[in-house]
Amino acid sequence: MQTRTVRVRVPGTSANCGPGFDAIGVACTIYNELELALTSEPSLTIEIEGEGAENIPKDERNIVWKSIVHLLRRAKRAKEYRGAVIHMKNDIPLSRGLGSSAAAIVSGLKAANILLDEPFTRRDLLDMATEIEGHPDNVAPALFGGFTVSVTGKRRVDCFAFQSRLPLKLVVAVPDFPLSTKMARSVLPAEVPMQDAVYNVGRAAMLVAALSKGNPHFLRTAFDDALHQPYREKLIPGMRDVFRAAKSAGAVGATLSGAGPCLIAFTLEHEDKVGAAMVRAFERHDVHAEALQLEIDTTGAEEIIGSSK
Ligand code: HSE
Repeated sequence: MQTRTVRVRVPGTSANCGPGFDAIGVACTIYNELELALTSEPSLTIEIEGEGAENIPKDERNIVWKSIVHLLRRAKRAKEYRGAVIHMKNDIPLSRGLGSSAAAIVSGLKAANILLDEPFTRRDLLDMATEIEGHPDNVAPALFGGFTVSVTGKRRVDCFAFQSRLPLKLVVAVPDFPLSTKMARSVLPAEVPMQDAVYNVGRAAMLVAALSKGNPHFLRTAFDDALHQPYREKLIPGMRDVFRAAKSAGAVGATLSGAGPCLIAFTLEHEDKVGAAMVRAFERHDVHAEALQLEIDTTGAEEIIGSSK
């Protein structure tokens, strides 16, 4: 027996946004789509189009399937549905810092929840997605859209989702090499100096205040960071030069996107110029990169009604 097929669309995300390490994130207009039907038979069919078609596992190790199983168990329906037919259409590049694993997790949870007639709220899905991903700053904007501030408590994740009052464009320089989050986290120190913590506390608060109020003046230093970017710089040749190039071309700020290696510029104008300057700066360090011009996704994960693949 097979359920109806549901189709969902989930945005890519850029985590940290500079000073908001493991807390702030933003959803971007680049998407993965998932079509899902659950089956009572224990068989798994996985088809993948686009990013990761060659290297994402198509068996029980698949992260979309693992997320579905997580939700089925939580809903106590895992004995009823033991298999699935999954079709993924991926535009979000893998292992580049644009939230491809968060999108996979959220798409599995969102689609399975719809098929079970929504036993869980979006907040519940955020808790589950964070348990699977390990940190909330990609999964939260993937679920809610816009900017999110997430705080992990003992039992639940608290998440404040808000829309920017500034019409920011996102220019992402995508280098042609992957970087695993595990590797990018392994270079971080266990402890940081108090002055670096203070540096980030003020900027993270300023970033949220400036975006919520719509005051570009206060954004000028609000994307700067002392907690993770300085340590990750050695993994991304030319990082500081690319930041400088983006700002010289008109961006209000530039940061590492999540754990990298993508670098993201936040700008109110001249997206073409900013993207070209970032690509040229990477080239000076022998890194080939492609520039994507994206907007902020304001919706988050949603069901696509009325069309098939
Ligand atoms: N906050 C996480 C990090 C995001 O920077 O390691 C990883 O996607």
